[in-house]
Amino acid sequence: MTHVLDGNAVGDRIRDGLRGCIDTLEGAGVTPGLATVLMSEDPASETYVSMKQRACDDLGIESFHHELDTDAPAEELFDTVESLNDDDAVNGILVQMPVPDHVDDRAVLRSIDPVKDVDGFHPENVGRLVAGDARFKPCTPHGVQKLLEAADVDTEGKDAVVVGRSDIVGKPMANLLIQKAPGGNATTTVCHSRTSDLGAKTRQADIVIAATGYPELVDGSMIAEGATVIDVGVNRVDADTEKGYELVGDVEFESAKEKAAVITPVPGGVGPMTITMLLYNTVKAAGLQHD
Ligand code: GUN
Repeated sequence: MTHVLDGNAVGDRIRDGLRGCIDTLEGAGVTPGLATVLMSEDPASETYVSMKQRACDDLGIESFHHELDTDAPAEELFDTVESLNDDDAVNGILVQMPVPDHVDDRAVLRSIDPVKDVDGFHPENVGRLVAGDARFKPCTPHGVQKLLEAADVDTEGKDAVVVGRSDIVGKPMANLLIQKAPGGNATTTVCHSRTSDLGAKTRQADIVIAATGYPELVDGSMIAEGATVIDVGVNRVDADTEKGYELVGDVEFESAKEKAAVITPVPGGVGPMTITMLLYNTVKAAGLQHD
């Protein structure tokens, strides 16, 4: 029987653990606070940001939201980040990516105080992660590690293939998998859009992590019998539904499930874990700032 991982259940357990940390901080007079900044009219980005705010409210983390017109000058975004950097009630800052083309996204990431960078995207935090001294692990790869741990999938000595090389998921995921640390010690291959014969690579893998943004790119023919398959993709594809679309992952679930021993669904797999680890990083940030 294939084990279909329940990201909501694993996420709920971690959130329950965070409640205790929040109570302790509250006892010291600290309420953790997360600021989200949205400069986009993309419906998916709007949905993600409102889910992040709601998750904060549910857990007793204060949330602050700033929305900027997509044609506002870049300076407005930098000024917003600067005021959040200076605001003691704000422990974590998240600028939802992507930002409009006229805004230099790397400069935005550099402008966030690294101690408040709960995404872990600031170059200082990327460097610390690569050096094996992470301050904030990026939320999605960290969530994948927690899911693997919850499913008793040991990464030690395993062959892992990460499909996708984004700064947000693929690169940090590969870095975590090669660390000399629990959840690491895997022999890790990173594949991407220029990889030749992707299936030959993924079929060698004990663990396949798909994070490409291409709907159902990885199917059952590309998976080894008994492998673990983690699907990070969330793709809106046109469908005859009330909303006019449905969500599908980067993995063709039905055929991959025939082969895999462990697999994540979309939705309800990695998605809830990303938000949970954002809450985790926000609580951690509040602790670091008030030590
Ligand atoms: N856009 C897509 N995923 C993310 C994320 O994890 N953080 C931010 N800031 N933007 C994103």
